[in-house]
Amino acid sequence: MRETWVVAATSNRFGRSTESARESATRVAREAIEQSGLDPKAIGQTFVANCLGFAEHQAHVGPLINNGLGIPDVPSVTVESACSSSSAALHEAFVHVAGGFVDAALVVGVERVMQMDSLKATSYFADAADYPFETRNGATFPGLYATLAAAYAAKYPTRPEMFGAVAVKNHANAARNPHAHFQKEISMETYLSSPMIASPLRLYDCCPFSDGAAALVIAAKEASPRPRHEPLVVRASARAGAVTALQDRPTLLGLPSTRVAAEKAFRQARLEPRAIDFLEVHDCFTIAEMLALEDLGFFPPGGAKDAALEGVTQRDGKLPVNPSGGLKAKGHPVGATGAGQVVEIFEQMNGLAGTRGVPHAETALAHNVGATGGSCSVHILSRR
Ligand SMILES: CC(C)(COP(=O)(O)OP(=O)(O)OC[C@H]1O[C@@H](n2cnc3c(N)ncnc32)[C@H](O)[C@@H]1OP(=O)(O)O)[C@@H](O)C(=O)NCCC(=O)NCCS
Repeated sequence: MRETWVVAATSNRFGRSTESARESATRVAREAIEQSGLDPKAIGQTFVANCLGFAEHQAHVGPLINNGLGIPDVPSVTVESACSSSSAALHEAFVHVAGGFVDAALVVGVERVMQMDSLKATSYFADAADYPFETRNGATFPGLYATLAAAYAAKYPTRPEMFGAVAVKNHANAARNPHAHFQKEISMETYLSSPMIASPLRLYDCCPFSDGAAALVIAAKEASPRPRHEPLVVRASARAGAVTALQDRPTLLGLPSTRVAAEKAFRQARLEPRAIDFLEVHDCFTIAEMLALEDLGFFPPGGAKDAALEGVTQRDGKLPVNPSGGLKAKGHPVGATGAGQVVEIFEQMNGLAGTRGVPHAETALAHNVGATGGSCSVHILSRR
C-alpha cells in the first residue's frame, strides 16, 4: 500500500442551509481542491456520500459536482452507509489511492434534510434500521438508542447527570466552533429540565437534524501535492458490519461493529489506544459516545459513564472527545458527518481550531457509525 494523505479538508457551517445539496457540495468540493493545490484534473475519482437526495429530487449528485468543478469526465460513485456514508466514502477513496488505482481522490459528504419537518425526517431516517423487524413496528432512532441507554443503565449504576455531562461538554465545544449547528452552551439544569424524547433520552441527549457538506482531498505522496495546509497521514482506514436488528444482538451493551473496526484499525496502524491524543466519535445520542469509548478500548465496560462528569473527556481533559461539539451539537447532516469529523481533525492538527484547539495533538481517531451499528468506520490520522 502507498502512503496516503488527507491533503485538504473543509466544510460549511452545519445547520439550516439555503443552498441545495448539489450547490453546497460543489462549493465545499471546490474549496477543498483549491486548498489541496492540485489541478482539478488530477482527481482520479470522486466519492460522494448522500443518503436523502431523493427528498430534494436530486439523486446521483456525483456527476453534477464534477460538472461544477469542470471535470465532467472524472468518474464518481455515491456511497451509502447510513450515518457512516462519508467515512465509508473516505475508506473507498483510501483503498483507491493506497492501492495505486488513482493518485488523488475527492470525498464529498452532503445532506439537506431541514426542509422537512421532524416527523418526516424521523420516518426517512428510520428506514436505515431493519424495516420488517424494527421500523415497521414503530422503532425510530431515538427509540432504538433509548433501548441501548436503558440496557446500559440497567447493568451499571447510572445517573442522568452522566448522560447530561456529555451533552454539556459537547455544547460547550460547539460554542467555539464556527462550523457547528448549535453554537450555544447549555447548563446541567437546562439538560435536566429538557423534555423527554424517548426515555431515558431527553432533548439534549439527541443530535439534531442538520444540513451540511464536507469535502476531503486524499492523495498519494507520489501525487506531489503542494497543499495550503500540512497533510495528515492516514494510518488506518477500517470498517466493520454487524447484525442490524437490536433484538438479534447477543448484547445491547455496546456496538459490535465498533469493536471489530477498532481492532482492525489499531492493528493496521500498529498503535495502541494510548497513542491517540483526541477523538471524534459518533455521539448521535449521548449514550452512543459512552458506548463508543468503551467499544474503542479507551474504557472498560461500564467505565465511560463517569468520563464526561469527571472531566476526562473535556477539551482540556486527559482524553479530549468531540472537541468539534460532536454530532450532538456540531450537528449530524448524515451524509456529511464522517467527512466532517475528519475536517475537525485536520483543523485541529493544523492549528486552525482557534479556541477549541487541543494542544500538542499528533494522532487522532475518527469513529462513525451507520444507524445502530450495522456499519462502522474507524480512521486513525497522524501528523507527518
Ligand atoms: C430531538 C428531536 C426529536 C427534536 O425535534 P423537534 O421536537 O421536532 O424539535 P424542533 O425541530 O421543533 O425544535 C424545537 C427547538 O429545539 C431545538 N432542537 C431541536 N433538536 C435539538 C437537539 N437535538 N438538541 C438541541 N436542541 C434541539 C431547535 O433548535 C428548536 O429550538 P428553538 O425553539 O430555539 O428554535 C429531533 O432533533 C431528533 O429526532 N433528533 C434525532 C435525529 C436522529 O435520529 N438522527 C439519526 C441518529 S442515528
